Amino acid sequence: MTATDHDPAVPPASRTIRTFHPRRGRMSDRQTDALSRLWPAYGLDVPDGPAMPVDLADLFGRRAPVVLEIGSGMGDTTAAMAAADPDRDYLAVEVHTPGIANLLHLVERGGLRNLRVAEGDALYLVNGLPEGGLDAVHVFFPDPWPKSRHHKRRLIQPAHVALLRSRLRSGGMLHCATDWAEYADAMRETLDADPDLVDAYGGFAPRPAHRPVTKFERRAITAGRPVADLLYRRR
Ligand SMILES: C[S@@+](CC[C@H](N)C(=O)[O-])C[C@H]1O[C@@H](n2cnc3c(N)ncnc32)[C@H](O)[C@@H]1O
Repeated sequence: MTATDHDPAVPPASRTIRTFHPRRGRMSDRQTDALSRLWPAYGLDVPDGPAMPVDLADLFGRRAPVVLEIGSGMGDTTAAMAAADPDRDYLAVEVHTPGIANLLHLVERGGLRNLRVAEGDALYLVNGLPEGGLDAVHVFFPDPWPKSRHHKRRLIQPAHVALLRSRLRSGGMLHCATDWAEYADAMRETLDADPDLVDAYGGFAPRPAHRPVTKFERRAITAGRPVADLLYRRR
């Protein structure tokens, strides 16, 4: 197990500016059942506060490259990507319990052995991950927080990017996607400004075929909002 000191980017316990909307959600009977049966085997609880060191080999029962997906929503993308990529392990993190339960259902339905689901604030989870321990970080359709006074809630901002990048191995990829044009530009500016990240495409990336189309993307396409993919490699 790798002990990790807490990162100054995210002061434990005092971090009150959240990157997510607090929302309740009703769970279906199927989701309630999946959560109670599958959580002990596939779930990881992430408390707010000081870094909780996570031993990734212990979590997955093997040593393989690990992809972290932040804000997995209902889990369809994560489950599809993990199923298509059995040689890497996928760690999804979400705060929305019905989405977590739905992903657990998809794990069981797909017989997925390379997927674990963390419940809690991704920034606290990342604090406890080993430096250089991740092969990739996916941030797909993060909440755009469109009002200027809410920009401080955005996931992609300099301090968070520095934290995420520190957990990537050298050559590991940070992949973001958004349908919010102004956020896409802000992401690009933030990612370009990080001295240890290199834009893999020298601009917005072509849509990667391996990223499944989600509800958010379908809605964006219908509404005529183009989706931007950004892929940056850690030096
Ligand atoms: C707009 S949804 C997109 C969901 C999914 N990625 C998709 O493409 O369908 C953003 C999700 O990120 C989650 N989220 C935002 N900040 C988070 C954080 N700090 N930790 C964990 N989940 C977070 C929200 O709960 C929400 O489900």
